[in-house]
Amino acid sequence: MMDRLDTEIAETPVAAGADTPDRTTSVAPARKVFVKTYGCQMNVYDSERMSDALARDGYTATDTPDDADLVLINTCHIREKAAEKVYSQLGRLNKLKKKRQREGSDLMVAVAGCVAQAEGHEITRRAPVVDVVIGPQTYHRLPEALAKARSGAKVVETDFPVEDKFTALPKAPEKIIRKRGVTAFLTVQEGCDKFCTFCVVPYTRGAETSRPVDAIVAEAERLAAAGVREVTLLGQNVNAWHGEGSDGREWGLGELLRRLSAIDGLERLRYTTSHPRDMDDGLIAAHHDLPKLMPYLHLPVQAGSDRILKAMNRRHTAADYIRLVERIRAANPDLALSGDFIVGFPGETDADFEDTMRLIETVGYAQAFSFKYSPRPGTPGADLDDHVDETVKSERLQRLQDLLFRQQRDFAKRCVGREIDLLLEKTGREPGQLIGRSPWLQPVIVDAKPEEIGDIVKVRITQAGPNSLFADRV
Ligand code: SAH
Ligand code: SF4
Ligand code: F3S
Repeated sequence: MMDRLDTEIAETPVAAGADTPDRTTSVAPARKVFVKTYGCQMNVYDSERMSDALARDGYTATDTPDDADLVLINTCHIREKAAEKVYSQLGRLNKLKKKRQREGSDLMVAVAGCVAQAEGHEITRRAPVVDVVIGPQTYHRLPEALAKARSGAKVVETDFPVEDKFTALPKAPEKIIRKRGVTAFLTVQEGCDKFCTFCVVPYTRGAETSRPVDAIVAEAERLAAAGVREVTLLGQNVNAWHGEGSDGREWGLGELLRRLSAIDGLERLRYTTSHPRDMDDGLIAAHHDLPKLMPYLHLPVQAGSDRILKAMNRRHTAADYIRLVERIRAANPDLALSGDFIVGFPGETDADFEDTMRLIETVGYAQAFSFKYSPRPGTPGADLDDHVDETVKSERLQRLQDLLFRQQRDFAKRCVGREIDLLLEKTGREPGQLIGRSPWLQPVIVDAKPEEIGDIVKVRITQAGPNSLFADRV
């Protein structure tokens, strides 16, 4: 199973010299930034926003640290030795910085994201190469922090500020949105108040907040005007989003999706990640009513044993989840489900694990992400007794992934022969081919011309490979 969160995500294109504010007395010097992004889609979005902010100071993107004036690492703290990996990377950057200094130039290093938030001052203490540490709720202050750091100060910005970073951040210029492609992420909700006992997110991202409807609609309209055809709404608990709608009523995510559906040019909507407890009637109805809302739902359950679900503080049972899935499928029978699973949470017995396997059999997933439980410092789960042996975790993960792989493959096989709308996203490996995504998020390879990128075309799926589908034009 692909591990979405440990995957390194390619460098983010930076908004080159665009949207430059009035600078009557000076022109920002040309500088280069290398951005490395780890973690979830939210970090991808954040890296783009930081890049937009840096562009105003004359930064353009580079795809190697070797010619960068600034290296920005956007980090993830969700599992395993996340902090240690960051420190070893910083060790390498330290060598690069020394080399630069010998050559008479300099290199600035900034650490952003969830490790930055969790470690704070510890980072500049352990890794003096770092000039700026900046958290997920403070990164709109990055340009000022770098300016301060240039005069020699170490800057650590990890308070949860009162001002809204989204309001403070510059808008991405049209040219850059176009360069980023025909699909885009849009953060609508941040933080989490659920405090699952295994999870660091409530500590690194802070309390749950929702962006206002107007700001979201304006950002989506800008994306659509710049050629984006598909928007994925993001939030740690995206379906906890709520806000005052144009009709003065309190809207949930379903109503928001309805509003976004009305935007011309925007053809596809997705959202992630949802919590089962926040899947309300309005959102379920949206899956029935909105043709632009793709029939795919990432709805993590983590475990199938009520005892473990309780210990995880998920606050629902396995049966609640299965009933919910039935209601969602009744609203849209074509909907494909994806999930996240953790094996080896403290106290998980063989019988608990079998409950998880049974739940997977019952639900049937088109796609899934699964992980061995990793104790996170500062979370209640880490303090529990009865930690599961690593070899047992590995065995369980193997069995679980075998089952999920089989389900994923079966789902792909069932797609063969179907006629679907395909959004052409980018060039494929072979010339003359483009890659798009099926409504169920599978990569689909088809013969098409590069100028068709951004088009939605009718194709028939002819073959299911291990990681992608193949299709012919209809
Ligand atoms: N808000 C989402 C999950 C965000 S974290 C939800 O509630 O479902 C993404 C995934 O990482 C989780 O779904 C979980 O499966 C995994 N994860 C989080 N903390 C973990 C830990 N300590 N060990 C192993 N996996 C973890
Ligand atoms: Fe973490 Fe639970 Fe919040 Fe998801 S709902 S972000 S798993 S605390
Ligand atoms: Fe990782 Fe933070 Fe996202 S811990 S998963 S980058 S919210």
